[in-house]
Amino acid sequence: MDCDPGQDDAIAILMAIAFPERFDILGITTVSGNVSLEKTTTNALKTCELAGRTDIPVYAGCSRHLVNDAFHMDEDLHGETGLGGTELPDPETKVQKEHAVDFLIEAILASPKKVTLAVTGPQTNIAMALIKDPRIKGNIEEIIFMGGALEESNITPSAEFNMYLDPEACRVVFTSGVKLTMLPLDITHKLLTSKTRLEKIRAVGNKQAEAVYSMLAFTEEYDMKRYGMDGGPVHDPSVLAFMLKPELFEGKDVYVTMDLNGEYTRGRTVIDWFDLTNTTPNIYVIRDGDVDGFFDLIIDCLKRYSTGAVAA
Ligand code: RIB
Ligand code: CA
Repeated sequence: MDCDPGQDDAIAILMAIAFPERFDILGITTVSGNVSLEKTTTNALKTCELAGRTDIPVYAGCSRHLVNDAFHMDEDLHGETGLGGTELPDPETKVQKEHAVDFLIEAILASPKKVTLAVTGPQTNIAMALIKDPRIKGNIEEIIFMGGALEESNITPSAEFNMYLDPEACRVVFTSGVKLTMLPLDITHKLLTSKTRLEKIRAVGNKQAEAVYSMLAFTEEYDMKRYGMDGGPVHDPSVLAFMLKPELFEGKDVYVTMDLNGEYTRGRTVIDWFDLTNTTPNIYVIRDGDVDGFFDLIIDCLKRYSTGAVAA
């Protein structure tokens, strides 16, 4: 998993760890994004400790982006720590010494089975690994990422946050030839929390569920105020939900490129939904899904922390 925790990234990590029989997590790599690299890395370590899986190695990656410098979301959405809504203890485990980009290359090349990358932040580390050692393309099963938008935006009127922070990285990933699946704002803006959904999460009654409840309640308040939505969109867990239950979602193979130089559109995913350019599709873009099924899956994941299914 390559991420910038951020509350929603942290929930995605908890979902991945909840299914040890499904996912052999080779490692978690962090990037600057929602908050600084130092904080995203600390938050990944905190989340693994919350999950009781301090055996999962965490590697720090790029502290800035290929062209854009680092960008840090204002603290209203993610709080001072980047995991606003929770007060998780400072981690006892340490980040690995190896740089995330080098880890990605080594782990992918060494894996006896093709590796799937779950990417929930700016794609800087992934692009750097593809540039540094393109051989990894041959052993990547798929990159499944949260980002982009057909008709939505959230950081500029044209762009979504993860893409906007590093459009050049997206261009590298989108043209890599690797199998790609995108979960854009068009689906995540449908995955909205509500009082009922949050209470059902809290009712699971373990510490992981309590943390997820508090984080979602925190971001919900910000998002409802900032965007006038009927709830808080749950972004990054959609990547794990797709990996666990792809049947929850509907999408289409389409051609997608990334606008780098538009005066008002830099960072926009240009998604040719109707094949107007007659170009070979490069990304499976998800546009719709079973919202109740998504939240039920999050609850199923959290319940697993009480049943002993999540063992180190
Ligand atoms: O636009 C939403 C994305 O930006 C999510 O990944 C969130 O964590 C932030 O990184
Ligand atoms: Ca993220």
